[in-house]
Amino acid sequence: MKTDKSDILTLLRNSEDYLSGQQLCDRFGVTRTAVWKVIKQLKEEGYRIESVSGRGYRLVEGPADRMSASEIASRRQTEWAGRKLYYLDATGSTNTDAKRLGEEGEPHGTVVVADVQTAGKGRRGRSWQTLPGTALSFTLLLRPDFAPDKASMITLVMALSVAEAVEEVSGTSAGIKWPNDIVMNRKKICGMLTEMTMTPEMDEIQYVVVGAGINVNNASAEEFQEEVRSVATSLRMETGRQYNRAALLNQTLMRFEDNYATFLKTLDLSGLRERYEKHLLNQGSQVRVLDPAGEYVGVAEGIDLKGELIVVRENGEKTPVYAGEVSVRGLYGYV
Ligand code: BTN
Repeated sequence: MKTDKSDILTLLRNSEDYLSGQQLCDRFGVTRTAVWKVIKQLKEEGYRIESVSGRGYRLVEGPADRMSASEIASRRQTEWAGRKLYYLDATGSTNTDAKRLGEEGEPHGTVVVADVQTAGKGRRGRSWQTLPGTALSFTLLLRPDFAPDKASMITLVMALSVAEAVEEVSGTSAGIKWPNDIVMNRKKICGMLTEMTMTPEMDEIQYVVVGAGINVNNASAEEFQEEVRSVATSLRMETGRQYNRAALLNQTLMRFEDNYATFLKTLDLSGLRERYEKHLLNQGSQVRVLDPAGEYVGVAEGIDLKGELIVVRENGEKTPVYAGEVSVRGLYGYV
């Protein structure tokens, strides 16, 4: 049996006391040499592991921010989200990878994470840049058994989950620009892209992938593509600290599991609307709705149970906005 680095790291992380070499050998049915080799590798990767003869091993501290399959697995506290995990140092797009895994029959909850994306996808055909060591870029594969017209709400469930997770790890408040940009101090820290694939009969969802790119440890605006430089920021730039991306992933997926369970009870946003609206920066603000049938301006009132933005137009008429880009006055520094 192969000694799995993730298993040993998980055990060390969750143990308050020393773990003897024998305990590790028995647990995994491997030799002491095999355990020692894994400990040596972990030390080389920057984990400070104390070895005391007669007592065993103890994880003193890990690297501040390291992305690897073992780091992510050892921090996972979720029930189903990320139980099956693909970690890649570099890939084209985690959404594209997750869709391929969806075709290949991978289970509900499978997560793809990458440190670098070379062909990251944004909404509306735009590209999304991910430089090494900076962002948390991941995609969650879901196999919902509800009707396709409910799927757009998944993005709002993820948006709320990212906002809550970011707040929990940073202690700083994060807002949502409808439907799913996460904003800190009026600048964007996270974008999301949800893609749905239907069964060949086109009557049921085959799978949905929800991808999120969170700017975590980017040090300065120069690290963003020129087109987004004035509107983008990172958690580090806003709070002056660096974060462990694997821990943020765990927190996000924990929040998602919880929020998704609430959503599934009613298949609408009744259980989440209050918390979503607390984060909704558009509420009470003027918005310009870029509707293909004609632009209009109004004041965003909140969301309805389907996740549509309710916009009160200048003539007093209330319009639910389902799709189409909403640009928000005052946000991102543009008016
Ligand atoms: C946007 O705001 O335009 C959406 C950006 C979505 C980026 C994420 S990063 C992880 C996942 N993989 C992709 O190719 N895109 C999403």
